[in-house]
Amino acid sequence: MDHYKLCITGGIPLVGETYVSGGKNTACALIPAVLLSDDVCTLENLPDIEDVHVLMEIMELIGCKVDYRPDDKTATIDPRPSCDVTVPYSITNRMRASYYLLGALLGRCGKAEVGYPGGCAIGNRPFDLHIKGFRALGARVEERGATIFAEGEMIGNNVFFDRITVGGTINVMLAAAKANGISVIHNAAREPHVVDLANFLNSMGAKVKGAGTDTIRIQGVEHLHGSTYTVIPDQIETGTLMIAAAATRGDVTIHGCIPTHMESLTAKLLEMGVLVTDSDDAIRVRTVRGHRAVNIKTQEYPGFPTDLQQPMSAMLCRAGGNSMVTETIFEDRFKHLNEMRRMGARVNILDKTAVIDGVTELYGAPVKATDLRAGAALVVAGLMAKGVTEIYDPGFIERGYEHLEEKLRALGADIRREEI
Ligand code: EPZ
Repeated sequence: MDHYKLCITGGIPLVGETYVSGGKNTACALIPAVLLSDDVCTLENLPDIEDVHVLMEIMELIGCKVDYRPDDKTATIDPRPSCDVTVPYSITNRMRASYYLLGALLGRCGKAEVGYPGGCAIGNRPFDLHIKGFRALGARVEERGATIFAEGEMIGNNVFFDRITVGGTINVMLAAAKANGISVIHNAAREPHVVDLANFLNSMGAKVKGAGTDTIRIQGVEHLHGSTYTVIPDQIETGTLMIAAAATRGDVTIHGCIPTHMESLTAKLLEMGVLVTDSDDAIRVRTVRGHRAVNIKTQEYPGFPTDLQQPMSAMLCRAGGNSMVTETIFEDRFKHLNEMRRMGARVNILDKTAVIDGVTELYGAPVKATDLRAGAALVVAGLMAKGVTEIYDPGFIERGYEHLEEKLRALGADIRREEI
């Protein structure tokens, strides 16, 4: 249990201008990728979040020279001194993306011994497709208790993913960037952070083509030089702020985002009767009337993102009518709705589908965050509800959202921490 709780007095429409930070899932892929370089790299627009802090610790642990300046959102990393290939479970289990150290170390020196990843408890989250990819590139992979051991010279090859996996796609790109020969990833993930990794690798001299499509072709190169690269804005933070603005029937403009990354959410908000206006790097979200219920089915990008299902289904608890939410990506991603029952939400959950019977009012109650996006969903619920909502275990939120409380307070929210 965290030593503090979040207290939100809801019913206040969010109004004003805010900005989105650099992408968590992008930064988590690009920081390990620096290991592939033969020179110093600088990453800009890094979000000041716990997952980035842990990855900086890992990079230092394996010997990189890290100059990380959270206030400047910048890190200059020199991978040349790094020589260790072992990352213990005690640190890798603190986040999911620590598993990218496997692909990056295999790509750098053909050897890696990395503890199992942690990450949000939203399903069983196996690792088999990553291992299948590494083996296709010539690695011998053994799972030894809490650690995955991988070794071998990377040889270009075809990698066929039985199902679309963001992490698997990124890990194989890292291992293949300096492989001997050409690799082709079939049924690849198309998320914006896959494209951002390809752009970063290519800025270092890699030859990656097709990122953003379901087939990525990587011609291995001998050397990668240093690069200074700016991380793209966070698609999921953008969406969470859009949903919070709509859910509180406010009027918020979100700056520094990429509207084309938000199309599936924008379409759903428009279907609900929310007004969404795009400009080249900002999105304005307004509500002038009640919200219609809509059906959501999560899909891999460019479909409706699973990471936005939780805040979105929280908002649907107060939409007019019945909404059906189908979660196709993870097995256990409705825990926040169980918590919201105490706030008056009327929800029936059956396997991968939640049927939400929208109510006219939600009421503040004590609730508990169980994972990162469930925490965000409960913040949205608290902002909507009449009275005070206390969110226990809010620490999850800091893993993936930079200064979320401050951003919401600046938009008029009554949200504060209280020591327990
Ligand atoms: C990444 O997780 C993100 N995490 C998740 O965001 C995101 O929800 C997910 O992609 C889908 O977009 C990071 O980028 C750090 P997957 P990842 O591999 O890579 C199954 C957040 O809140 N699978 O695309 O773990 C898996 O169980 C987090 O920011 C296998 O079966 O997701 C899932 O059902 C939550 N075998 C599906 O595929 C494997 O080897 C998609 O998983 C790998 C995955």
